[in-house]
Amino acid sequence: AKEPVRVLVTGAAGQIGYALVPMIARGVMLGPDQPVILHMLDIPPAAEALNGVKMELVDAAFPLLKGVVATTDAVEACTGVNVAVMVGGFPRKEGMERKDVMSINVSIYKSQASALEKHAAANCKVLVVANPANTNALILKEFAPSIPEKNITCLTRLDHNRALGQISERLSIQVSDIKNVIIWGNHSSSQYPDVNHATVKTPAGEKPVRELVKDDTWLNAEFIKTVQQRGAAIIKARKLSSALSAASSACDHIRDWVLGTPEGTWVSMGVYSDGSYNVPAGLIYSFPVTCQNGEWKIVQGLSIDEFSRKKLDLTADELSEEKALAYSCLS
Ligand code: NAI
Repeated sequence: AKEPVRVLVTGAAGQIGYALVPMIARGVMLGPDQPVILHMLDIPPAAEALNGVKMELVDAAFPLLKGVVATTDAVEACTGVNVAVMVGGFPRKEGMERKDVMSINVSIYKSQASALEKHAAANCKVLVVANPANTNALILKEFAPSIPEKNITCLTRLDHNRALGQISERLSIQVSDIKNVIIWGNHSSSQYPDVNHATVKTPAGEKPVRELVKDDTWLNAEFIKTVQQRGAAIIKARKLSSALSAASSACDHIRDWVLGTPEGTWVSMGVYSDGSYNVPAGLIYSFPVTCQNGEWKIVQGLSIDEFSRKKLDLTADELSEEKALAYSCLS
């Protein structure tokens, strides 16, 4: 039998946590034959609720779940973890300045970076979900210098999946027949959902999404806006932010990272920029990536037209600005 993998979920008493932990315990993240031990972290005001989640995990009697650690102690939570999904954070509340929220999250990610660096298993893979996801991941990277930078990522797979969902609805086709959309940049409304390289499997072979949609106006405006604004639309409808889709996409992100992407298919991940596509190095930026043997690689050589170039730069500018703001909170 396989050794259990230890998976940390921070903010586990929150909305996404509640949707995510049963998915992990059912094998959605790491596969149906991979036993797991869940490590759940939250803060003292949520300790009782966290314990309630632990009780439900016991009650659900998941065969793959070999243990549960539920704690408000970051060191205990991080000890020995192989995968860390960082969902905990401080949301922006009415009347708060961006800088105030940034400042709180920077201090959270700084201290959790140290706990992970000191106590996680070697080669622990980190996925930051909590917003501002790219910048929180960057702070985590800066304060966990012994964790290889390739192991620190942020979630833009939800945006990627939203783009697939929109194309699927528009063309009335299966989402599983569409591939290779791209989310570039920040997990924010400045992101660029790009369909220029996306294709659809049809009875007549693989066709470009652009050729099938036959409406560049829709693709260049409404489609992009819908994906960029989808989070806000969910909040408006649910009075709560996306949770089941965020949890499911977090599972997709880790699963593909660990188990690999199918031949000829890429996915979007927020990763440490090496300067590919003239994106400034040193930002956590969403790129198209393929994964193999537990490592991601940025897809190279895609043509970027003028329209796309502007959008890649715009979201990079926003990330540089966020980075500067985060650094100003550190000093
Ligand atoms: P939530 O407010 O329901 O849950 C957050 C949890 O984090 C709470 O239980 C809170 O007590 C906990 N927490 C706060 N500070 C913590 C700390 N220092 N250590 C550990 N836990 C801590 O929020 P929800 O809806 O679950 O969302 C979580 C985060 O994910 C938010 O930042 C949200 O903006 C972000 N998000 C990101 C998405 C993405 O695609 N990257 C999509 C949807 C949400």
